[in-house]
Amino acid sequence: MASNLGKFFKPTILQSKVVIIGVMVILLTWLTAAFALDHRSVFLPGTTSEGHVLFEVSCNSCHEGFKPVTNETCMRCHEAEMAADAHGAKKFRDPRWAELLTKIDVLTCTACHNEHVHMFGRGVHLKPDLCMACHEGIITGDDASHTGFTRDGCWTAGCHNFHDHRSISTGFLRQNIDQLPMLPEPVLLERTVTGELEEAPTPDLGEEFLGSES
Ligand code: HEC
Ligand code: HEC
Ligand code: HEC
Ligand code: HEC
Repeated sequence: MASNLGKFFKPTILQSKVVIIGVMVILLTWLTAAFALDHRSVFLPGTTSEGHVLFEVSCNSCHEGFKPVTNETCMRCHEAEMAADAHGAKKFRDPRWAELLTKIDVLTCTACHNEHVHMFGRGVHLKPDLCMACHEGIITGDDASHTGFTRDGCWTAGCHNFHDHRSISTGFLRQNIDQLPMLPEPVLLERTVTGELEEAPTPDLGEEFLGSES
């Protein structure tokens, strides 16, 4: 009985070993060929961001061997844009903000701009409410003009750039570049002002001109 079982299994195990080794050899050959023949996109772990998709096959633009991608790599192409970085190293040298760096490592480009992963827009893979890690107060009462604003609107609504605070959001402008400069029929938005007073107030001239001295 035992020898019968042995006869049944031995060749099957041998066969499956051959198959596994065969598949591995084919895979290895295929991967080596892909590497050697410059079809490196098969090694991409995911979708590349919109801004970089044009040159994604040029892995060397960002990768040097198996080293992690550094800020220097990004700066090779983006130095000019980063010249007036409102959230750059210069700002965070101030010890007042040191603690904030523990929330998001803002000095490392890939903390917010990883690659080949899901992007929320403009090459940013952190959720759009990332500003709240440091600026929650802005919408919860520190700034009356912003109280009640949504958490994710700072840069997605077209108001702020993270890096370049001199201009309004260039990303937003780029996204809407195909919009007409003017509506087909320009209209003035209706203004609805609701007053609380029924009658004009009577001014107290003594108070207005002489202040509290009268
Ligand atoms: C625009 C720059 C850029 C280009 C071009 C690019 N990558 Fe990447 N890649 C990155 C960044 C940034 C990361 C994430 C940071 C890191 O892991 O160092 C990454 C991560 C990876 C990872 C995952 C590494 C890990 O640690 O998880 C692989 C694999 C990879 N890239 C392969 C490729 C291949 C293959 C190509 C070319 C076909 C390529 N990449 C082109 C920027 C780029
Ligand atoms: C804390 C997160 C964070 C870090 C860290 C970060 N960025 Fe950004 N970056 C953003 C956000 C959010 C946007 C989109 C809003 C905008 O356009 O400013 C952006 C936009 C950009 C843009 C597009 C600018 C434009 O006008 O559309 C470039 C280029 C860029 N980042 C490069 C870098 C480089 C280079 C570094 C490293 C020195 C870096 N970023 C570090 C969050 C970050
Ligand atoms: C070989 C040059 C090159 C390198 C290296 C490079 N980029 Fe870019 N990047 C570009 C170009 C070209 C664009 C598209 C034009 C633009 O939006 O400025 C772009 C666009 C972007 C955008 C805007 C995406 C959008 O949709 O608006 C961000 C963010 C960005 N790059 C961040 C980075 C970061 C972070 C690194 C380093 C990991 C990096 N880039 C490395 C050339 C480069
Ligand atoms: C890691 C913390 C951190 C994150 C995340 C962060 N900020 Fe800031 N931000 C700061 C600090 C610190 C200042 C300087 C505050 C000051 O000078 O009082 C600042 C200043 C600003 C300013 C004023 C710029 C100036 O003129 O100096 C704006 C606008 C701003 N941030 C917008 C944003 C937006 C939009 C986001 C998200 C895309 C964001 N911030 C994310 C820390 C952060």
